[in-house]
Amino acid sequence: MRDDLALRAFFGRRKGKKLRPGQYASLQDILPALRLDLVHNAPDDGRKLFAAPVEDIHLEIGFGGGEHLLHEMQRRPQTGFIGVEPFVNGMAKLLAQLEHRFEDDMPGCLRLYDDDATKLLDWLPSGALSGVDLLYPDPWPKKKHWKRRFVNAHNLERIARVLRPGGLFRFASDIDSYVEWTWHYCQESHGFECQGNQEEGWDIPYPDWPGTRYEAKALREGRKPAYLTFRRI
Ligand SMILES: C[S@@+](CC[C@H](N)C(=O)[O-])C[C@H]1O[C@@H](n2cnc3c(N)ncnc32)[C@H](O)[C@@H]1O
Repeated sequence: MRDDLALRAFFGRRKGKKLRPGQYASLQDILPALRLDLVHNAPDDGRKLFAAPVEDIHLEIGFGGGEHLLHEMQRRPQTGFIGVEPFVNGMAKLLAQLEHRFEDDMPGCLRLYDDDATKLLDWLPSGALSGVDLLYPDPWPKKKHWKRRFVNAHNLERIARVLRPGGLFRFASDIDSYVEWTWHYCQESHGFECQGNQEEGWDIPYPDWPGTRYEAKALREGRKPAYLTFRRI
């Protein structure tokens, strides 16, 4: 695949509110040990990325404040998690939670990446992942901005490459046009088989679903979430 910036996908903000000194310190002290450095080649077996023995690997793209990622880590102790979030304030939120829960002994089943997920997807070995979550990606609701959406043919190709056969790509959104858009692109992609359809319950949350911060906002504002699942063929 071409390393073409036009095919990259980060259009959001990297920084928001000024970080508190404690958050800044966490970024300096904790992130370097957990951050994936793409300068080195990825190991052939992705499980070697983790300090702890893990059975499979799950990726969450754009984890926001990391609430869902932490919930999944707790729920699936044998899985290695990679969390991606280029928004510094989101990363700082997750690090604060990690410090609170684990103090100095960071979990060996977690790696983080603080840049555009497309770079990580291109770096990971083929078939390395058992699951990819894209939960409430930036919606870009205006038609003239739809091309900025994370879901597109190139990125689905990227996701398909890193998922093992049978691996799941989960996409949740509260924006109808984005849900239809993603359904359409996955149908076109050949790499995925759609699980269920609109009539069979796109509105049913995933098993043991904790919600996300963005979802709570959408619900407060009266928008209805959809939960799509695509299986890698
Ligand atoms: C609307 S927020 C949702 C956050 C979280 N998933 C939730 O549901 O609360 C979308 C997140 O995706 C991140 N994001 C946007 N483009 C991205 C990219 N190319 N790679 C990784 N993350 C990205 C943004 O920084 C933002 O935090």
